[in-house]
This record gives sequence, C-alpha cells and structure tokens, in this order.
Amino acid sequence: WPLHAPEIDAIRDLKRARNAVVLAHNYQTPEIFHGVADIRGDSLALARQAVESDAEVLVVAGVHFMAETAKLVNPDRTVLIPDPHAGCSLAESITPEDVVALRAAHPGVPVVTYVNTSAAVKAECDICCTSGNAVRIVESLGVPRVIFIPDMFLAKHVARNTDVEIIPWHGACEVHERFTGDEIRTFRSRFPSLSVVAHPECPPDVLDAADHVGSTAQMIDYVRRERPERVFLVTECSMSDNVAAELPEVTFVKPCALCPHMKRITLPRIRHALETLSPRVELDPEIALRARAPVERMLAVT
Ligand code: 13P
Ligand code: SF4
Repeated sequence: WPLHAPEIDAIRDLKRARNAVVLAHNYQTPEIFHGVADIRGDSLALARQAVESDAEVLVVAGVHFMAETAKLVNPDRTVLIPDPHAGCSLAESITPEDVVALRAAHPGVPVVTYVNTSAAVKAECDICCTSGNAVRIVESLGVPRVIFIPDMFLAKHVARNTDVEIIPWHGACEVHERFTGDEIRTFRSRFPSLSVVAHPECPPDVLDAADHVGSTAQMIDYVRRERPERVFLVTECSMSDNVAAELPEVTFVKPCALCPHMKRITLPRIRHALETLSPRVELDPEIALRARAPVERMLAVT
C-alpha cells in the first residue's frame, strides 16, 4: 500500500520494535486496513490467525469481543485493543444470566453463540460460530434443536438453511438492521446490472433481495471471483473502500453505513497502544477457561 503518512511509518517502526502484529477486521478504514494491518479478514480469519501468529503482541483493530477472542486463544500473549470502548450492539444484547435462563427454559438444548458476544457470555455456551460457518457449526452438533444467540437475523438465516430447529435470541446489529428490501429494489431499478451481496446480519427481506449472502470475507471473495461491473455490498461501508482500493474496475454503490464502534479504532490510537502497550485485554481466569472451550470447539470443526 503506497501510503506513507508519518503515523503509518511510526506504527510500522513500533511493530518491529515490539514484535507486534496488527489484526484488522474488514470494516477498518483503508489507512488501517491497507496501511498498517498484517492480518486482515472476517471474525473467523482473525480468530484463526491470532492462534497461528508467533508475534509477542497482538493489536486488534476491531471491536472488543474480537480482542477478547484473540486473548482467549492466546492467554500468554499481550493483546491490545486501541479503544476498549469499541463495543457491539449484538454483544451488548445478552448477558450470562440471560443464557442461564435460556438453558433453564430449554433443558438439554445446546447453546450456539455467534462470536459477537462477551467472554462472560461465551463461558455459558457450548460452541461458538461466525457468520461464515454458522450452518456448519449448528449441524456439527448432530442434535434436532439448538439455542442460537444473540443475532435474530443470523438465526433466521441459519434456520432457513438447515433442518435443525433454531431457538433464537432477539439481538440485532445496529448497522445491518437498518437496511431494507425496498432500498435494494430502488438501487436495482437505478442500476439494472447491479450485483447485490449481503451480510447475514441483515433482515430477511434484504437477504431475499440479494444475489449472494455471506460473511464479510465471503462477500469479498464473491466480488473478486465474479468481478461485477457494479456492486452493492450490503454491510458496513468501509469494506467497500477497502475492496475498491484492490479492484478499481468495479464500481461500488455505497450508501453510508458506518459502525461507530469499529470507527473508534484510529491510527493515533493504534500508535498509542503500541507505544504504551495498553490498553490490554485482561480476562478473569475462571471465565477465560470456560469461554475458551466454545471458541476452540469451533476452530476444531471448521
Ligand atoms: P464477519 O466479518 O465475521 O462477517 O462479521 C461481521 C461483523 O459485523 C463483525 O462485527
Ligand atoms: Fe457489532 Fe454491527 Fe458493529 Fe459488527 S457492525 S461490530 S455486529 S455493531
């Protein structure tokens, strides 16, 4: 990436000095994603590659649950989150007590948690999943029924693609829940050759109106493979900027849908984290032990 801002050069120097890598989610802005990230991807790729990296310090350019997941699978390494207030409406929609109550209401039914939850919630669950492997994880359990938390739209999408009965929770992503099927139809009438690729956190009428549905990495793979003339990536809009930098021949229809939590991560905060080795992700050891198991179960399946 040909970007040489002083901040980017300073971060690159600090990474070398600290033996650190920056893991960036696909929703980070281009100067982070292309300028300073060493590992890029969707939630699943970040969780996997956090295990595989041999750096001493992991800087997570993403939201808090992603940094917690990196720490869960790397308990002995330093994991930094440049802004610890980078939350997520899905992670905030459910508490550990809610999961205990769900289990009591549905005795013996396993709990599958989308990775967008706190470590304390994961500690009460059986197995994790991401948007990229949710159906596979649900079916891997070999049971007729599962509790699926916390995203109600992802739960509905999974239910449509499996015979396993899905008992949902009522969480939603504050970014994806705002898209509508009418919006897709309006864009399609303006651009008849438009390709529409949607994230499964969107409502069902949006997914019905899309040509392809997948995790952020699967959405990017689709665009790389199909090279549509014009595409609408129905998700957080920084992702379109990142893919556009790679594929200048594709035109992106891009109504602005920023995740305010992802946007808390900035170059100055990444630099500050590397300079001070803080803020660190620290987990209660008892919770970490129980929360690691569902993440490791997921990584063993996929
Ligand atoms: P994925 O990148 O795993 O598809 O997740 C999207 C998301 O909203 C993360 O917060
Ligand atoms: Fe959470 Fe939605 Fe932001 Fe992803 S885009 S971090 S699911 S609020």
